[in-house]
Amino acid sequence: MANVVIIGTQWGDEGKGKIVDLLTEKADYVVRFQGGNNAGHTLVVQGRKFIFHLIPSGILHSGKVCAIGNGVVVDPAVLIEEMDHLLEHGILLSPDNFIISRYAHIIMPYHRALDLARENRKGKAKIGTTGRGIGPCYEDKVARNGVRVHDLLDRKALMNKLESNLEEKNFLLQHFFNEQPLDAHSILDEYLAYGERLAPFAENVSQCLQAAVEQKRNLLFEGAQGTHLDIDHGTYPFVTSSNTVAGNACCGSGVGPSRIDQVVGVVKAYTTRVGGGPFASELLDETGERLQRIGGEFGATTGRPRRCGWLDMVVVRNAVRLNGLSGLAVTKLDVLSGLPTLKIAVGYQCGAQQLDAIPPEIHALECCQPIYEELPGWEEDIQNIRRFSDLPGNTQRYLKRIEEIAGVPLSIVSVGPARDETIVVRHPFDVNI
Ligand code: GDP
Ligand code: IMO
Ligand code: MG
Repeated sequence: MANVVIIGTQWGDEGKGKIVDLLTEKADYVVRFQGGNNAGHTLVVQGRKFIFHLIPSGILHSGKVCAIGNGVVVDPAVLIEEMDHLLEHGILLSPDNFIISRYAHIIMPYHRALDLARENRKGKAKIGTTGRGIGPCYEDKVARNGVRVHDLLDRKALMNKLESNLEEKNFLLQHFFNEQPLDAHSILDEYLAYGERLAPFAENVSQCLQAAVEQKRNLLFEGAQGTHLDIDHGTYPFVTSSNTVAGNACCGSGVGPSRIDQVVGVVKAYTTRVGGGPFASELLDETGERLQRIGGEFGATTGRPRRCGWLDMVVVRNAVRLNGLSGLAVTKLDVLSGLPTLKIAVGYQCGAQQLDAIPPEIHALECCQPIYEELPGWEEDIQNIRRFSDLPGNTQRYLKRIEEIAGVPLSIVSVGPARDETIVVRHPFDVNI
């Protein structure tokens, strides 16, 4: 038995969905613990592509339980749409394979309206959020005004919360942002209907996971976003509004830290970022365009082009520390094929100072220039390779160097988007604890 956390090491979109889908084979429960439908996790299975925003990426496997933990913020309309889409593909969600925490917070229409209004008002200084209402929903959670899953099952409780919340939100929307106010009654009916649909799945997820642990089941925790979008440890304020690091797998699901055995960090073989914020190794040239084109670097949630750059090991090392990584899953290695030389940032030059970690102040990070190490590239197409030893020598050297700088062993190498386009070096569920 082992419990494994999967985390993005960079700024999201590292390929977490693919890795979670792959590892689900040996898991019994797959648990989302933070974020919401700002996430877009892509799976390619038997030639079919699925993008999940809220439902854990293990859902294509039968006989597994997918859980949405208390730390997730849930837009019920998006969740129901995802459930319906799965049904069209012959996958029926029932309380046997899908549960959602009664404690999870609900994204309300005023959260989306405020997210968009705030971004508009910020103009050039905007964060570039996904506009899904994530930040305002977490704000209400912390301000203790949130609507939780259980409130959708209780007309009176929901109406009380709506009335008191809308008093404040409508004032802001109308008088500060010059937007239209929202009507409590229409929201009430819409959200009670969502509640009716979701009621069979509403559970105490923490208790369900405790029972699973007692039965020696394997739990797989699916991180969303990436370490550098973490509200505390990321490139603040260009971050999301939740803790994205591995520690939150516990808080966001109601499982104690002593239960976690392995933490696998997903590392894209180069770096991407969507939205604003500093990005030291960004390439604003032909190589950057090539990575974007060959890597298909367009957002799975918003369709926005992703900014691309060289692999930044300062960023990855930061993630090793912040998450206590025990293994690495390197993805999209195939995208680098054909580049004559590859660069890896191994430190930053910040004025006269050389740094080997990300400085905490955003202004300092904005001034950092990457210090690069160069490695020879490879010409070969590697998408059909399934064993590490069959990879070209220079590909192996690139991976070994990542392992060496990170100080963490390789678990998985991904050489294509499909489930089977993978080299498993060290399966995290098989590692002796
Ligand atoms: P996530 O948010 O971390 O789950 O990642 P996304 O799904 O947003 O973005 C990763 C993209 O890369 C998706 O389109 C995946 O299908 C694709 N992908 C994942 N692994 C690989 C890989 O090894 N090679 C290639 N070429 N594409 C990959
Ligand atoms: P996955 O799980 C990449 C980014 C947004 C924006 C910032 C804040 O697919 O890796 P938010 O809507 O969360 O308030 O936006 O965070 N962002 C992501 N970038 N992948 C994601 O998720 C992201 N989720 C949020 O682009 O810069
Ligand atoms: Mg994504």
